Amino acid sequence: MDTVGDIEIFLVTFPGAEALLCAEAREKGFIDPTPIKGGVTVRGGWPEVWRANLELRGASRVLARVAAFRAFHLAQLDKRARRVVWSEFLRPDVPVRVEAACKGSRIYHAGAATQRIEKAIGEELGAPISAEAEVVVKARIDDDLCTISIDTSGESLHKRNHKEAVHKAPMRETLASLFLRQCGYDGTGPVVDPMCGSGTFVIEAAEIAAGLKPGRSRRFAFEQLAGFDEAAWSRMRGAGDGGGGEAGGEAGGDGDIKPAVRFHGSDRDAGAIAMSRTNAALAGVGGVTEFRQHAVTDLVAPSGPPGLVIVNPPYGNRIGDKKQLYSLYAALGQTLTSCFVGWRIGLVTSEATLARATGLPFGEPAVSVSHGGMRVSLYLAGALT
Ligand SMILES: C[S@@+](CC[C@H](N)C(=O)[O-])C[C@H]1O[C@@H](n2cnc3c(N)ncnc32)[C@H](O)[C@@H]1O
Repeated sequence: MDTVGDIEIFLVTFPGAEALLCAEAREKGFIDPTPIKGGVTVRGGWPEVWRANLELRGASRVLARVAAFRAFHLAQLDKRARRVVWSEFLRPDVPVRVEAACKGSRIYHAGAATQRIEKAIGEELGAPISAEAEVVVKARIDDDLCTISIDTSGESLHKRNHKEAVHKAPMRETLASLFLRQCGYDGTGPVVDPMCGSGTFVIEAAEIAAGLKPGRSRRFAFEQLAGFDEAAWSRMRGAGDGGGGEAGGEAGGDGDIKPAVRFHGSDRDAGAIAMSRTNAALAGVGGVTEFRQHAVTDLVAPSGPPGLVIVNPPYGNRIGDKKQLYSLYAALGQTLTSCFVGWRIGLVTSEATLARATGLPFGEPAVSVSHGGMRVSLYLAGALT
């Protein structure tokens, strides 16, 4: 694997969230971040691929674009796929699988394209082809141009490997971090989620404040690629973690000095609270988070300066019925209006009428994204008066 050369790196995200991920990539020093449909491109060598997987909170996966060629028919695809120098990035002893997609091209049969590319890899490199392989080669044939990428992430990046349990309708960590970014959350100030489910917003916010890298505890598909430099990766993974924020090294809660709790979750469901506590402890932010079981109507603002309330109440057809939902949103709005003067509010929901039912001063959605076949929007209100 060439560790200095320049490759195109594609950061996949939720449609609608491209600009937010682009801002994160720019902030974290990636070169030439450019939003395109469904993601952001950046440039760099393989160490930048590793760093993108390790550090970016909003990316769902990281693809390395390794080859591109025209293919007008299957025999040409077969021939040109054999010319790709697969040994530069794949290992002959590591199983691989191919996923192909065709759009607006003379080659229209994705299954046949997959089979040709798998055969080329199998015969030219000798790597075993397996449906269960962790290493995935993605071929996209668009307008007769075949682009070959390696999925360097493996499991989707929202899996930080800190969540033992999830409550119903959990928010993905990646999306939660992008919504926090859109709320202007920069790691300072307290955060409250009064319907926290498995604790995603609270834990993400605490991790951001603590300067923890989102990929610090998981493995990645790139560890299985040719030329992977284990020692360089260990150095990158170990560098500077936990030192970036106020919660700092004490975030695990075992240090002598306990940092002030600034991240608060509550939910009426006892199971959700138990999960949130477990998940926060696994993420190393148990010492700066607090979870309590109560209904939203019993919510009071934590003492200290105001900050951000971010909440993702039940919505759509997934949970509960409409009439109950309107009264739930109204109750949330009343509690926030009376107890959270000075706090900013971010509300994630699927319908504008539900956001309006809160009576909070929301304008048009700040951002709308496709998530699990549904359009969800973030509504923002500035400091409540
Ligand atoms: C869509 S889920 C939130 C998911 C959460 N963001 C996560 O990532 O896991 C909505 C949550 O609201 C909680 N909830 C519903 N009605 C409530 C109420 N009246 N008071 C407090 N929590 C409530 C549910 O128990 C559920 O956990």
